[in-house]
Amino acid sequence: MTATALQTEVHPAVKGGLVLEVTNVSLQTESIISITFADPSGGPLPSYVPGSHLVVQYGGGANAYSLTGSGSAPSEYTISVLQVEGSAGGSLTMHRLTIGDRVRVSLPRSAFAPAATATHHLLVAAGIGITPVLSHARSAAEWDIAASLIYVHRPGSGAHVAEARELLGPALTECSDRDSFLKVLTEKLTTQQLGTHLYVCGPTAFMETVLDHAREHGWSTARLHSEAFGAPELEEGEPFTVNLARSGLRLEVPAGVSLLETLENAGKSIPNMCRKGICGECSISVLRGTPQHRDLYLSEQEKAENTTMMCCVSRSHDEELELDL
Ligand code: FES
Repeated sequence: MTATALQTEVHPAVKGGLVLEVTNVSLQTESIISITFADPSGGPLPSYVPGSHLVVQYGGGANAYSLTGSGSAPSEYTISVLQVEGSAGGSLTMHRLTIGDRVRVSLPRSAFAPAATATHHLLVAAGIGITPVLSHARSAAEWDIAASLIYVHRPGSGAHVAEARELLGPALTECSDRDSFLKVLTEKLTTQQLGTHLYVCGPTAFMETVLDHAREHGWSTARLHSEAFGAPELEEGEPFTVNLARSGLRLEVPAGVSLLETLENAGKSIPNMCRKGICGECSISVLRGTPQHRDLYLSEQEKAENTTMMCCVSRSHDEELELDL
């Protein structure tokens, strides 16, 4: 996209919003970039509540992205965008933005605000869910409100890790697997004072786990706040067949049904957490055939090796795959 590609037709989701210029693009991870927008004439931008999002128009569509700043008197807005293959195209378009491009955006919208009465913010994030939570952490630091963060990410592949470490210091706990995460979560949930509010952002199943645990430990709904993000909806894909080498089973995976669901329906118990291609829990070994990788977990090199696949979202380029199951 170039500066001349600004859409003349305004998407309803950004009506009454702003036209901003891209002033910086930086790589967070292999698949996540941060994009900074500013007023083309250098003017101030409207303030926003921590945890707010911005709707950005791309082509004929529009997507919401969390703002990562604290929101107070901003001169720029920064969002981070995960590139998702097989999505409707928003993330790809965003990843093509370069400095000087202009985009239409909404005014910031708040749906995940901090509780005014909280004396401590317990922040919990997985993957790209770090973005609104980072906004909360920055604001808490500015206003001198206690905050701690549990951040689940793959070692070496988390976005905003350095900023989170700098902002939170020892109040940051990083986890890279489900067991250690659940241990830390339980420990945090059972040692908080009454003025603590919990804020969680990540894949739906991840958030449900966190909220369920909190309720089980007696947290009232009023102290729980969540912001859904998702890997965008994937296309239903082509049908394919899997041969399970160890059990000798042969299964058909229909269009619109995931390999994970197919395996579960056949009585196989596959560990899983997010069911969105983010957490890495549902990894299975591929013995033969070329998977169509649609996850956000494996690195590009791991995808090219075609020896592992995330069965919750990935499918097959070949008519048949042989799996080590
Ligand atoms: S269940 Fe999380 S990547 Fe598949």
